[in-house]
Amino acid sequence: MNSVTELKNTVSVPFEQARAMPPSVYTSDEFLKRELSDIFAKDWFCVGRASALTNPGDYVTLDLAEQPIIVLRDNEGALKAMSNVCLHRMSTLLEGRGNTRSIVCPYHAWTYNLDGSLRGAPAMTLNEGFCKENYKLPQVRCEEWLGWAFVTLNPDARPVSQQLSKVEELVGDYDMANYTETFFETHVWNTNWKVLAENFMESYHLPVCHAGTIGGLSKLEEMVCPPGEDAFNYHTILKDDSLKIAMAHENNDRLHGDRRRMTYLLAIYPSLLITLTPGYFWYLTLHPEGVGQVRIGFGGGMSKDYVDDPDAQANFTQLKTLLDEVNVEDKGCTEKVYRGLCSSTAKPGHLSHLERPNYDFAQYINKRLQEA
Ligand code: FES
Ligand SMILES: [Fe+2]
Repeated sequence: MNSVTELKNTVSVPFEQARAMPPSVYTSDEFLKRELSDIFAKDWFCVGRASALTNPGDYVTLDLAEQPIIVLRDNEGALKAMSNVCLHRMSTLLEGRGNTRSIVCPYHAWTYNLDGSLRGAPAMTLNEGFCKENYKLPQVRCEEWLGWAFVTLNPDARPVSQQLSKVEELVGDYDMANYTETFFETHVWNTNWKVLAENFMESYHLPVCHAGTIGGLSKLEEMVCPPGEDAFNYHTILKDDSLKIAMAHENNDRLHGDRRRMTYLLAIYPSLLITLTPGYFWYLTLHPEGVGQVRIGFGGGMSKDYVDDPDAQANFTQLKTLLDEVNVEDKGCTEKVYRGLCSSTAKPGHLSHLERPNYDFAQYINKRLQEA
């Protein structure tokens, strides 16, 4: 049986009888190919916070489903995305992230404006067919939503704000658009991207995997895991004031009652994972790098009232230290899971009621592959 069929069988049972996804969906190259073509090339992919691209010429590059892409802020202040492949002899253009006034190819210096049009090319006057007005880097769809920057290779994808309107209804009072990013890093871990995504989707592992950090703060009976939506799933946990910055700031008059200490864990498909607390947020945006490696964008920061707080720097330092420690624990757990998945004895067990989001994620993956 191939891995796509195995997954289809796994997700065909009701949640009350559900099991984890079969090992082959994490380890098979065939399955990864399908994920790239039917998920990463079709859905919206988050490149991080739009505030990382504030000034004209700020750019980031990424490979999305094997397509090299540039996302940049243009001279008119709009966020734009385009192909990162030169129109001459097809070198890639920009690397990493930075700021530039124009896009200069590192091979023969064909030079593009920030809108992708060709500004100039050396020594091309004698080719009668060449007309620089005919050259423009193919544009890629790009949208901003609640402070996030998304791109998609799919011309037919519904706008992000439509797809995620229920997220806005759910956490509108957190005012996520005004959370400030204070750090962004990239990492590569030795696990399948879905293992890390699923690790985020359940807080079942917090008391054990995170015993050294936040485990004690996490009460299984205070976790709420509602059924997921088409484009995302979520669960909530309650924190107590032993971590002050997870509580609503005293100047925060948007949140009331238990919401002042409620953390939302939003898993926006395929791979944007946001921990949203009343005081801070952090997120992962994941892309597979082969079956056994995941490329991770890891960022986060503070809500506006905490940014304005006199203790902002100390609060942020405390937060970053904590997140780094938590990440080390998650890295250990998710890399162990991947090693286990690769063994011949790997066999999926039943899911806890606290793993409802994992069940919904499996349904989503299956749906994308079936509708392709
Ligand atoms: S490949 Fe880009 S200028 Fe030649
Ligand atoms: Fe974790």
